[in-house]
Amino acid sequence: MKKSMSDYRPATQAVRAGQIRSSENEHSEPIYTTSSFVFESAAQASARFSLEEEGNIYSRFTNPTVRVFEQRLASLEGGEACVGTGSGMAAMLATCMAGLKAGDHVVSSQSIFGANQTLLKGLMGNFGIKTTFVSLTDLDAWRSAIRQNTKMVFFETPANPLMQIGDIAAISDIAHSANPDIKVVVDNCFCTPILQRPLSLGADVVLHSATKFIDGQGRCVGGAVVGDADFVGEKIVSFMRTAGPSMSPFNAWVFAKGLETLPLRVNQACDNSMQLAEALTEVAQVERVYYPGLSTHTQYELAKAQQSKGGAVVSFELKGGQEAAWKLIDSTELLSITANLGDARTTITHPYTTTHARWSDEDKAAAGISRGLVRIAVGLEDPIDVIGDLNFSN
Ligand SMILES: Cc1ncc(COP(=O)(O)O)c(C=O)c1O
Repeated sequence: MKKSMSDYRPATQAVRAGQIRSSENEHSEPIYTTSSFVFESAAQASARFSLEEEGNIYSRFTNPTVRVFEQRLASLEGGEACVGTGSGMAAMLATCMAGLKAGDHVVSSQSIFGANQTLLKGLMGNFGIKTTFVSLTDLDAWRSAIRQNTKMVFFETPANPLMQIGDIAAISDIAHSANPDIKVVVDNCFCTPILQRPLSLGADVVLHSATKFIDGQGRCVGGAVVGDADFVGEKIVSFMRTAGPSMSPFNAWVFAKGLETLPLRVNQACDNSMQLAEALTEVAQVERVYYPGLSTHTQYELAKAQQSKGGAVVSFELKGGQEAAWKLIDSTELLSITANLGDARTTITHPYTTTHARWSDEDKAAAGISRGLVRIAVGLEDPIDVIGDLNFSN
């Protein structure tokens, strides 16, 4: 019997899944830059618009290049369906709009990307959806935050920038035991399916900022929602058709090509990160290193069970506070001073005054984000050069 893509291993899926050759028999996927598609007859147009017949209509909601990316990522995450979106934030917005209505309640980790927090608190709050924020690692807090009207649970793991681990199986179990209809949504952009597959651990929906490791070279902004045929294949698709925060065919082509090398890049970036993290533990000026691959990480055992490697973000606290952190950042010659991650180029940032600048001092103190904290998102340069670029004694 002919094999299906799910019979193959991830490195094979990353290269092969989703491709359908056109009549030109191209080897590499073409980019279909067309806004609309033509029909053979008025009857066919009618059948397509009423969804009686499957097929392309208009690129706001279906496009062959976007479909290649979607099927490739769905295959890697082990989901039935995937929808590409214009950004990672559009993926989060689509998930909220498709899954929530006024009066619903969300339980979210407090350690999430800032714009996701603003979206839940502000934007969703304006539409009568309330969110309770809890500590990612406190399972009792998740348990007691769930209410009768809770419809969604949301977290990212590892969480930025301190690399705390959310127990995907345990949080999914807590939510589904309270109510099987609660959607457990996991932002998987720090690990990618190469290191961790949340759907196989009990989550219902996986979100991605494709802008990060999926592109892998810092070129395009995009996102994706992965999950089952009903929620993602029907409800998210319907939201995209109506509201339209779509992925462009060109970006989809970049992301589909990015997926082909994702296993190689993510594994190499993890190995480089491990070398950096180990080197940092030897530096006298470093108070503490946060990296899930180190046995000193407070959740090392959970990280080891849930992720195949430690990831490609290493944070550390300097004894000299903000002055030392800024001096270190300013003394680098090779590293890029920018907050993006998942890029071939290693980036360095000061979370206190950049990514978390809008948080109050109290919130930062509660979350453990100190003035001496530095985050390095490790890329593909030789790790010896990256370590050599960090001048602690200036
Ligand atoms: C963990 C995480 N989720 C979501 C996003 C949002 O993605 P995008 O910038 O593609 O909208 C980011 C962006 O930095 C992120 O770091």
